[in-house]
Amino acid sequence: MGQATAIAHPNIAFIKYWGNRDAVLRIPENGSISMNLAELTVKTTVIFEKHSREDTLILNGALADEPALKRVSHFLDRVREFAGISWHAHVISENNFPTGAGIASSAAAFAALALAATSAIGLHLSERDLSRLARKGSGSACRSIPGGFVEWIPGETDEDSYAVSIAPPEHWALTDCIAILSTQHKPIGSTQGHALASTSPLQPARVADTPRRLEIVRRAILERDFLSLAEMIEHDSNLMHAVMMTSTPPLFYWEPVSLVIMKSVREWRESGLPCAYTLDAGPNVHVICPSEYAEEVIFRLTSIPGVQTVLKASAGDSAKLIEQSL
Ligand code: DP6
Repeated sequence: MGQATAIAHPNIAFIKYWGNRDAVLRIPENGSISMNLAELTVKTTVIFEKHSREDTLILNGALADEPALKRVSHFLDRVREFAGISWHAHVISENNFPTGAGIASSAAAFAALALAATSAIGLHLSERDLSRLARKGSGSACRSIPGGFVEWIPGETDEDSYAVSIAPPEHWALTDCIAILSTQHKPIGSTQGHALASTSPLQPARVADTPRRLEIVRRAILERDFLSLAEMIEHDSNLMHAVMMTSTPPLFYWEPVSLVIMKSVREWRESGLPCAYTLDAGPNVHVICPSEYAEEVIFRLTSIPGVQTVLKASAGDSAKLIEQSL
């Protein structure tokens, strides 16, 4: 028996991962860059037991549904195979942010699970190997292993596809103000979405242009150049959504209010308030700004009809082990 608890943060992509060259191993078609979100946390405990006959999963205090358990069990198979054991595990996971608010938690969930599961089994993986392992649970999870501002080197094989930190969290005081929209609409999950990317005739152009965008965003982060960052993250988000909208079948993640916010953000920036939008596979709008402007941005977002609430997160640290007993 062995047990461990780990925490990890979700991340917001500045340059997006969309489309896999290998969907099973989650080798992406393009590199990506993100920022971990400090105030949002997933905490996961894994308990391996010699005599238990199946894996169990408790998510936020309730037994998880079958698809979630399957995905976790499948991931644990990789850990078991690597460690050469056949024990099953009890997994208990909690988010400190509202579930169902459309904040993707799979990145933080699989980063915390990778660290907790390997630690519970007594393995000490390097950051690189942990990132590679987390990637196989959810692609973006590889970026929640290192701290701060993180780049996923796409690679071509399991060995060379992993994420590295390009700057620590304290390098740049940026805040992500996440406008949560009131919507009943349940979007198509990213795993299904990635599989459709290649059906868009725009995807090859988006992928071919990615090194240029990565270079600009990497430099903007290192030089703390907010206006370059702002222009490029909006452009990158628009490019990904253009691919989504032109896939077969088309994926429309934006809601009317998403577009209202996107237009407002550009107007605010033109009139001197530094902020920029980016959207993942859902209607919520992440508005990134230098932290000293966060209160103003949140005030303005809150006054837009259709915005339910605004979450606030600054640059976050790496995944961390908080307890272990072997
Ligand atoms: C739009 O990592 O959630 O958020 O590997 O299938 O779990 P799976 O996909 P996931 O995809 C993230 C897509 C995105 C962009 C990004 O975070 O880079």
